[in-house]
Amino acid sequence: MANELIEHAIEILRKNDQGTYTVPTHGLYPFQWNWDSALTALGMGYYDEDRAWVELTTLMDHQWEDGMVPHIIFHKEDEGYFPGPDVWRTGRSLPTSGITQPPVSGFAVRRLYERATDKAKAAEQARPLLAKIDAWHDWFYRCRDPHGSGLVALIHPWESGRDNSVDWDIAFERVPTDGVEPFQRRDLQHADASHRPTQAQYERYIYLVQLFRSLNWDNSKLHDASPFQIVDPGFNGILIRSCADLADLAEKLGHPEIAARNRARAEAGVAAMEALWSEADSQYLCFDRKAGVMIKNASIAGLLAVFAPIPKNRAEQIGARLMDMGKQAKYLVPSQPVGSDLYDGKRYWRGPVWLIVNFMISNGLARAGQSDVVDRIVSDSLSLIEKGGFAEYYDPMTGEPCGGKTFTWTAAMVIEFLSNADREAA
Ligand code: GLC
Repeated sequence: MANELIEHAIEILRKNDQGTYTVPTHGLYPFQWNWDSALTALGMGYYDEDRAWVELTTLMDHQWEDGMVPHIIFHKEDEGYFPGPDVWRTGRSLPTSGITQPPVSGFAVRRLYERATDKAKAAEQARPLLAKIDAWHDWFYRCRDPHGSGLVALIHPWESGRDNSVDWDIAFERVPTDGVEPFQRRDLQHADASHRPTQAQYERYIYLVQLFRSLNWDNSKLHDASPFQIVDPGFNGILIRSCADLADLAEKLGHPEIAARNRARAEAGVAAMEALWSEADSQYLCFDRKAGVMIKNASIAGLLAVFAPIPKNRAEQIGARLMDMGKQAKYLVPSQPVGSDLYDGKRYWRGPVWLIVNFMISNGLARAGQSDVVDRIVSDSLSLIEKGGFAEYYDPMTGEPCGGKTFTWTAAMVIEFLSNADREAA
């Protein structure tokens, strides 16, 4: 069974492979997405190491001069997606969006290197990426933590990768919709409307894009100008982990300054994360920087933070909370707790299980020695695949596959789970 699933996963990766980048799935997402690509490279590394390095290299080739790595790279024209380059208008010769996504690249580059069979060759591929990822991390702390809190803020829900999370609801009400140019969504041609964000949310997504565009995508201005500034513990956890992993790899490859800078960022980040801990919820919570208040919603963001090298007692508390959630949810890990007021088991990031998040949570828990909960998450993830195929996300109670089908990063994560790499790397 395991071999058959891996074969099927490879088939999906190959089908979505465009040569130098991979689309998340044909139709719904016809371009290159940032964190999709970095996680996809891990799956590719299993059957073609060279191709895996190309995936990461293509992504980093589109880094902006200021250090940002955009969330979408529009390699080809495609009418089937909204908002396309004509809405973003970022002025790049090869069009990109103007916001970023969770920076998993530092983690991915180290993992690819550690697993590489030919280390000298892998070092050659990794070396040019080190400086670029370092510059991206620097950009984050410079432009998204301009007042030096130690944690970065998102200025658009799409940056979190959890587009319509319940976490954003209250802050999003402050985002106006006046002046939003008329538009036609394309996602509903490819996926069920009840599985997707609402029209009101889309209007606010586009309002923010128009606002940033009116500021010429100048990142020295966008953070302070945005009515939406959220400090997300999952996002910061990913950034901290990437800094720590980049530091380890840079040290190994003889770049002590990159190592020192990233180690310092990771240490400062871990210390600052403590401000987001909620004892009552036994997990971290988001902070609304604009309003100056914690967001009282115990979503997956605060569990995903275990991907970072947080203190052992915090990882244990998160492990216990997950075991508890596992009594209610048939499949771990729901993006919003089953039974909470705004839980919606089929609507994107408001309930469904996503395999990439399961992978990152279980990777962090494995490093913290929480093997029982890791076993449960891995086994639930594989049951979902066996039952529903390689979907974009799944209902945590029925296991129903939702959103797009034959999904690239889902396939890549199945390879990760089945090749059992986590336990080895822990
Ligand atoms: C959706 C997801 C985001 C992902 C993208 C492509 O927008 O919310 O996390 O990167 O699709 O798969």
